[in-house]
Amino acid sequence: MNITEEIQRLKEEKNAVILAHYYVNPEVQEVADYIGDSYYLSKIAATLKEQVIVFGGVSFMGESAKILNPEKTVLMPDITADCAMAHMADPETIQRMRKEYEDLAVVCYINSTAELKRHSDVCVTSANAVKIVKALKNQNIFFIPDRNLAHFVAEQVPEKHFVYNEGYCPVHEKIQVQEILREKEQHPNAEILTHPECPEAVRRLSDYIGSTSGIIDYAGKSACQEFIICTENGVLYELKRQNPGKKFYFTKTEPVCHDMKKITLEKIRDVLMTGKNETHVTEELREGSKGALERMLELAK
Ligand code: 13P
Ligand code: SF4
Repeated sequence: MNITEEIQRLKEEKNAVILAHYYVNPEVQEVADYIGDSYYLSKIAATLKEQVIVFGGVSFMGESAKILNPEKTVLMPDITADCAMAHMADPETIQRMRKEYEDLAVVCYINSTAELKRHSDVCVTSANAVKIVKALKNQNIFFIPDRNLAHFVAEQVPEKHFVYNEGYCPVHEKIQVQEILREKEQHPNAEILTHPECPEAVRRLSDYIGSTSGIIDYAGKSACQEFIICTENGVLYELKRQNPGKKFYFTKTEPVCHDMKKITLEKIRDVLMTGKNETHVTEELREGSKGALERMLELAK
């Protein structure tokens, strides 16, 4: 029996389902039952009938799935797979901003710890942030942790006042304008598709800005045949699967999230076999943080 067959057998035996983000390795995406961006995965987690969720992603994803589904078992193939940005804000600053600004909404990118969600009013993902911020009644928005996504949203919602936080994704932050221009020189007909976690200078060059799902949808619908992709290289698997005839280029320094790449088939098989690496969230933390996630799911409908 090969490892994929072993995983299939264990999944049935344990009543388990595998979720994977577009940034994980292709072979992991191949065994996953559901692949998507952060918004899709948080939505789907709430509708599953299986008892065990194996989450091919980083810790905030497993944590969010557990907060929304406390009765389920959430297993992380690699317990050390974490998102650096998820820790780039702090409750003390949030409290200070709440005192400083009247009519403030603390908007928390889902790429954050449960502790940060607990101190926030609503969560967002890159796919629904603009819609949700527009729907809020508050005039002042403190957007944590990602300053790049915050600036992108602020540009789409100019009627609101934004307070920025200094967090960023180390993978998207490193995507270089010079390297994009070099690709554009070699492929002048290519459209530039960019994730909003990228810095402003990269967003300015882009033909389209959106979440990983947004980028995949755009590439499928566009009449263009070539694209320069400014996000993590894991999206290539789905881009090629849906568009076998189209060409996709990354910058020379290919954007790679090493935490997402920690997820392997062997680790998925091991957690299914042993039940180790279970995500736990205390009842107090769950009670405090679930409101922000549930509000996101409600407002994004
Ligand atoms: P999306 O899944 O919202 O596109 O965000 C990308 C990301 O960085 C996930 O960690
Ligand atoms: Fe976090 Fe960036 Fe990796 Fe996404 S790509 S998990 S935001 S470090």
